[in-house]
Amino acid sequence: MALRKIVNKSEDILRKKCKLVVNFDEKLGILLDDMAETMYKANGVGLAAPQVGILRRAVVVDVGEGLLELVNPEIIKSKGSQRGVEGCLSCPDDWGYVVRPNEIIVKAQDRTGKDIQLKLKEFFARAVCHELDHLEGQLFIDIADEMVDPDEIENEKQDRKGKRRKR
Ligand code: CO
Repeated sequence: MALRKIVNKSEDILRKKCKLVVNFDEKLGILLDDMAETMYKANGVGLAAPQVGILRRAVVVDVGEGLLELVNPEIIKSKGSQRGVEGCLSCPDDWGYVVRPNEIIVKAQDRTGKDIQLKLKEFFARAVCHELDHLEGQLFIDIADEMVDPDEIENEKQDRKGKRRKR
């Protein structure tokens, strides 16, 4: 495994739509391993392939319930809504409120190409929605309804450990 460089929001690649993964080969496995290592090292809860410069539909997420790898993910159903603060490993100084579905059903493939389907809610659903937006070239700062000063959420950050980590 190797750490990869995280692309900053100023770079065009984060604004591009990602292509489907078609080869479930060793290269994909290496990419997913590297993405997980890079995410953990940066203390994030999610990372999408374009954030390491690869325009393919692959994301990793770990909100404290173990590592989830999603290849060619698609939200097939969503329910309710939630509003909460998000950050992003590509936007180191930005935090803002984003409205997301409270519950989603996501369909994807694993690293071997096997179909998977998951029902996720609350913070887990938020993290996955955030990563899927990256695959469309969308950043949370584009859709946040209110940006917040990191100092103002510092206390809250400590109270709700893990909930404010970057994606
Ligand atoms: Co992000």
